[in-house]
Amino acid sequence: MSKIGLWLVGARGGVSTTVSVGLSALAKGLSTATGLITEHPEFANCGLPPLSDFVLGGHEIRRGSLLESARVIEADSGSLPHHLLEAVREDLDEIDQCIKPGILFNSGEAIHSLDKDSMAVTPDSPQDALRQITTDLQEFQRQHQLSGLVVVNLSSTEPPLPPNLAHESAESLRSALERNEESAFRSSTLYSLAAAAVGASFVNFTPSTAALTPATRQILQEANCAYCGSDGKTGETLVKSALAPMFAQRALKVMTWQSYNMLGDRDGEILSHPENRSSKIASKGELIHQILGEDVHSEIRIDYVPSLGDNKTAWDLIHFRGFLDHRMTMQFTWQGCDAILAAPLVIDLARLVAHAQSRGEVGLQKHCSIFFKSPLDFADHALSAQFDALIQKARNW
Ligand SMILES: NC(=O)c1ccc[n+]([C@@H]2O[C@H](COP(=O)([O-])OP(=O)(O)OC[C@H]3O[C@@H](n4cnc5c(N)ncnc54)[C@H](O)[C@@H]3O)[C@@H](O)[C@H]2O)c1
Repeated sequence: MSKIGLWLVGARGGVSTTVSVGLSALAKGLSTATGLITEHPEFANCGLPPLSDFVLGGHEIRRGSLLESARVIEADSGSLPHHLLEAVREDLDEIDQCIKPGILFNSGEAIHSLDKDSMAVTPDSPQDALRQITTDLQEFQRQHQLSGLVVVNLSSTEPPLPPNLAHESAESLRSALERNEESAFRSSTLYSLAAAAVGASFVNFTPSTAALTPATRQILQEANCAYCGSDGKTGETLVKSALAPMFAQRALKVMTWQSYNMLGDRDGEILSHPENRSSKIASKGELIHQILGEDVHSEIRIDYVPSLGDNKTAWDLIHFRGFLDHRMTMQFTWQGCDAILAAPLVIDLARLVAHAQSRGEVGLQKHCSIFFKSPLDFADHALSAQFDALIQKARNW
């Protein structure tokens, strides 16, 4: 039976580990599919690949095993319970065989110092790095005789890539690669280029802007790859995209929308570095002004609070005016388990992009905007408009 590869960059991170445990648990009938949009009845007759079709592999820069990563999550948030890990441990061992040393290239200080026990490959040049990743992907394709491959970037958030002419077109990036111009590339750029080189679909689940520049997008398009991004919309931004349209639709004038986020896991630790944090803040910040107007006073803060672990907490304050300009306030607190919210989205995206590419529907998958904080080329941040676009696609399939 033909299989589809799901290649996770950052394969032993919190989200990837939860995807691996989750897919295995679902294939064994040990869990319900709660949280998967692709299990919505509208997708029933679309011919999406069954969850059991996916075979997993990936790149990782830290040593260890998937089971060890899962045990850390078990001890921390308890979101991966002991009995489930016992039931899927053989599958995790099998996936571990397909996890290769990741490459670290110009990823910024925070990521480079992530773990002293790193197994990262630090290539001499962008060309070497690209060759290494491409070889690993091709070996995975051959080994499992894959009918399709989806590469998902789930690695740590990189700092923004400084402006560089090389990012403006496929041609300029290719010539930067020929010259081995190091500053034009971060690790995520090389992962997306490798996806294009092997004809894989590519999903950027991170806010790292270096992955999907105009140049890499053009290269993916020319290689007939389906792609989408960026930055999974899983928690506070998800709530905002449902709530902000309500104020607009009821002609309530929002004056202030303040957002305060506290994260405690490895992602939070990386985001405690100002450069890396600025990528996330930029990605989270688009929505309020797009839906409610440029004049809303809106700031987003992200703090690292280690004891929270994966249970991210966000507090939002919305100050608005109603009839006769009377001032009122709404506040909400969101406490979500980050990886539990993100993993089903990754699985949904893998099914959707694999299906689209198998039908020859390549390039940007605009109907996937509901999954992202910064959906590429999709002007509307309102959740309902994004959901309608996805369902419309399902009806046309
Ligand atoms: N709800 C969510 O969890 C959520 C939502 C939106 C976006 N994201 C993004 O998804 C990514 C993963 O989140 P996470 O919570 O799993 O983080 P994590 O820190 O647990 O996992 C990231 C993994 O990537 C690895 N890594 C770093 N650089 C790499 C490289 N160059 N090659 C291969 N592996 C590399 C790290 O060692 C780590 O294991 C982050 O960028 C995060 O911002 C997460």
